[in-house]
Amino acid sequence: MKIFIDTANVREIQEAVALGIIDGVTTNPSLIAKEKRPCGEVLKEICAMVAGPVSAEVIGLDAESMVKEAQELSIIAENIVIKIPLIKEGIRAVRMLSQKNIRTNVTLCFSVSQALLAAKAGATFISPFIGRLDDISQTGMDLVRDIKTIYGNYSFKTEIIVASVRNPLHVVNAALLGADIATVPFAVIEQLLTHPLTDSGVQRFLDDYKKIPK
Ligand code: G3P
Repeated sequence: MKIFIDTANVREIQEAVALGIIDGVTTNPSLIAKEKRPCGEVLKEICAMVAGPVSAEVIGLDAESMVKEAQELSIIAENIVIKIPLIKEGIRAVRMLSQKNIRTNVTLCFSVSQALLAAKAGATFISPFIGRLDDISQTGMDLVRDIKTIYGNYSFKTEIIVASVRNPLHVVNAALLGADIATVPFAVIEQLLTHPLTDSGVQRFLDDYKKIPK
């Protein structure tokens, strides 16, 4: 499974990329707003830090403005992928962009029917938001399972990005289901790799090493 980092913070991206396990980046307007810097400047910097896809979201609500924004964003770097909301106009925009060979990440997906239409429109990626479904007492991971089944039934090429990840179990379950990608906040990446028994084990080995006669 590929791991993307879900942030617009360049310090977090730098630290995660240095681990050698990051395949791409996803941003959204809320994440970029936290950085208090111009959007284009932040995206340009991020695109230079990773070789893989960097998702940047449009804010237009009709297909024509989404396509216009997409073309402007695409100029920033070759690895920009256009994030399009899963609304009716978004589906139209995805079809138009796929005909122009502009890659899309269809975001705010909360149902399998939405995911089916995104794939039919030619989406490169689909982003089911599992944490937000869990928040309203629906099992987000069930959505990932159903999308995986339907995409498999028809050999859709659209890749599933498990998004709105809130904890390490979300990532583990995404991998168990065979999701293509999980996009993970920096704090959860850190949680994924730490274990108290590893830390105490390292300490015990260091303490015992000191007892070895020199
Ligand atoms: O990848 C989508 C993500 O940024 C949304 O996460 O935690 O706001 O639901 P969250």
